[in-house]
Amino acid sequence: MILQLFIIFLSITLFLLYYLSTKNFNYWKVRNVPYLKPLPLFGNYRDYILLKEWGPLITYRICKEFPKEPLIGAFYGTEPSLIVQDPEIIKVITTKDFYYFNSREVADYTDKEIITQNIFFAHGDKWKVVRQNLTPLFTSAKMKNMFYLIEKCSRMLEKLLDEESTTSPIIEVRSLMARYTMDCIGSCAFGVETNTMKKCDTPNPYTIMGEKIFENSSTRAIKLYTRAMWPAVFYSLGYQIFPNEIISFFKKLLIGVFESRQYKPSNRNDFVDLVLNLKQNEFVTGDSISNLKTGEGKKVHLEVNDDLLTAQCVLFFAAGYETSATTLSLTLYELAKNQEAQLKAIAEVDEYLHRHGRKIEYDCVNELPYVEACIDEALRLYPVLSTITRELVEDYTLPTGLRLDKGMRIHIPVYRLHHNPEFFPNAENFLPERFLANERENIKPFTYIPFGLGQRICIGMRFAKMQTLAGMVALFKNYRVETASDTPDTIKFDPRGIISQPSTKINLKFVRRHDREKHNM
Ligand code: HEM
Repeated sequence: MILQLFIIFLSITLFLLYYLSTKNFNYWKVRNVPYLKPLPLFGNYRDYILLKEWGPLITYRICKEFPKEPLIGAFYGTEPSLIVQDPEIIKVITTKDFYYFNSREVADYTDKEIITQNIFFAHGDKWKVVRQNLTPLFTSAKMKNMFYLIEKCSRMLEKLLDEESTTSPIIEVRSLMARYTMDCIGSCAFGVETNTMKKCDTPNPYTIMGEKIFENSSTRAIKLYTRAMWPAVFYSLGYQIFPNEIISFFKKLLIGVFESRQYKPSNRNDFVDLVLNLKQNEFVTGDSISNLKTGEGKKVHLEVNDDLLTAQCVLFFAAGYETSATTLSLTLYELAKNQEAQLKAIAEVDEYLHRHGRKIEYDCVNELPYVEACIDEALRLYPVLSTITRELVEDYTLPTGLRLDKGMRIHIPVYRLHHNPEFFPNAENFLPERFLANERENIKPFTYIPFGLGQRICIGMRFAKMQTLAGMVALFKNYRVETASDTPDTIKFDPRGIISQPSTKINLKFVRRHDREKHNM
């Protein structure tokens, strides 16, 4: 009897599970959108859910099955998602009809965690008001004013390279670059010295926080996709993506800086000053996102509290260092493999230093077109956000006539666009020349999007360019790079990463340049 009951219970459970995990699988068929047959529970992303494959690579393969289709239906686990690979439709979604797609993901759940209240995750009025108030931090004039801090960090990087390469010329380049970019964002955004480039016997607290934010354990990965695919289940089970200790650390950091400035904005005009300004008032004002639809000039007020401010603070720290460190290290990796390109980059740096009395100045952002092209090309091959997401906030009909329901996940396949030979001939080769003046004009709009696009484009793009270019100059001033015996032949990305994170260490050999090698000395 008990056995029979158990079998009935098991059968009902299995049936329910099967029903729930497949009930959406007709979604694309009835809408006449091409799609690949999904698997129960896993949809089209089985190997990602099982942590065997990097998600954007699966999207890339799906796109390759339908190279000429502008829109492809997919099943992200059990949930339908729309892959948009046509540049014209990408333009509509991210610019023209942005209002409908102003959310990044799981809009109804972004207030469930303090950290996901930052502008990266937020949507609607909250996103709009915060973005409007943070944008003035990133003007060219602001970048120029804070360049002396970057210059200081780049000198520290030179010293760090000397110290590290004395111990061994083989250095793991990603952690090296993270020490530099973390110091840059620490001093520019928060006015603190992170000391990440100094020798210290105890673990650096900023490095520990960085590792906690970007932790790429299996548990974190499972949480990440469960939240993205089934947010209601995720939050009803009481889970969070980010541990509370991150918030405590950054709250303490901000209070420390506030106290050192006696709670008054200084003349540094940095992120902390802006936060102090915002703190003076109970509310911050900005335009309502609905104005984009109605054309009205409605204003909205957002309550300013410590949680909201700390959430932005964590984001700036995280986005400020990890993305640039990965980009710098992958640019160096490609240059180690492409010595001819490296020689050109070094010659350009030498000429620059010669013109500027061997000092790195703000002009480096405009005066190093070849080095910049190398970074751009590395970002093409290895975009840090390899799938950009948007989520529909109201029902909407695309110009193609396809009707989409509120909540639809939109996946913009950055990795596929960047690796599509139709847009980038010899797409798998590192060819910085494609980003030089005339060649660059041949790149079709909305196919090269390493910093995203439209109104949600990366707010820190100028800062990123400034610190990566300064870092490259500091490095090539005295060193060049070669592959080491254990440098990977190709880069694979970790399926567990929150952004594109190489799955192995990238060791490079740092060779000190002799003075006679340096051009125009
Ligand atoms: C090489 C370095 C970087 C890359 C490749 C990069 C890339 C991106 C991308 C692809 C997005 C999403 C854009 C979209 O959805 O259309 C983004 C958003 C963002 N990035 Fe960056 N980023 C970098 C550096 C930085 C830095 C240095 C900061 C800050 C100091 C920063 C702050 C942000 C913020 C706040 C957002 C959210 C913008 C919004 O949703 O309104 N990023 N970034």
